[in-house]
Amino acid sequence: MTAEPVITLDHVSRIYSMGRLDVPALVDVSMTVQPGEFVAIVGPSGSGKSTMMNIIGCLDRPTSGDCSVAGTYVDDLDDDGLARLRSRTIGFVFQSYNLLPRTSAIENVATPLLYQGVGRKERMARAKAALVRLGLGDRLDHEPTELSGGQQQRVAIARAIVTEPSLILADEPTGNLDSHAGEEVIALLRELNATGRTIVLITHDNDVAAMASRQMHMRDGRLVA
Ligand SMILES: Nc1ncnc2c1ncn2[C@@H]1O[C@H](COP(=O)(O)OP(=O)(O)OP(=O)(O)O)[C@@H](O)[C@H]1O
Ligand SMILES: [Mg+2]
Repeated sequence: MTAEPVITLDHVSRIYSMGRLDVPALVDVSMTVQPGEFVAIVGPSGSGKSTMMNIIGCLDRPTSGDCSVAGTYVDDLDDDGLARLRSRTIGFVFQSYNLLPRTSAIENVATPLLYQGVGRKERMARAKAALVRLGLGDRLDHEPTELSGGQQQRVAIARAIVTEPSLILADEPTGNLDSHAGEEVIALLRELNATGRTIVLITHDNDVAAMASRQMHMRDGRLVA
């Protein structure tokens, strides 16, 4: 039995219009990711990795071609539909953590549940459980400036998984971390993958990419072998 792919890109291009100049950031990309895969996307700066991630993550739409995520054609959804698909299915982790400033770790992690209409008591319980799982049970009330970079990234991962997403998208999650903290983050992603989550990880770092079960290489907006 073959499962339905979590991600399908079919001849997807994304061209940014800059006045009279067209910037082809993604050119005719076709690929699938199956449930439970851990895929690394590798390529030089400007090769279109984040552009592809934004399309997979329903933060942006293709200029042409078809994209489906979790069995839903993105083209069939309006912006609210996209936001719902995102909130239900996808957890995001970014290089720069993107935590809310002056906001405690537990409140940061609980925020995505607020958008899902989960009540405060359950939000706090689930946010605490996610932070404990990531080894931050003694940092619940710390604000981002009171945490190290590696701890901030673990808070961001807790926030990404608190909604129990089936797909985790991580764009250079180790980019700002020293090698030890980076290894911890990759170990966490592998653990999440082992419990059934599909992971797509963007990285410049070949050692990090080697941890994934499959690598996709990008150059000048195209997938190369
Ligand atoms: N909003 C935008 N408007 C115009 N051009 C853009 C925009 N975003 C990205 N680009 C261009 O698209 C190309 C791909 O950018 P992208 O951010 O996807 O690269 P990347 O592979 O993620 O690079 P990096 O490793 O530096 O993060 C680049 O040439 C970039 O200048
Ligand atoms: Mg990028």
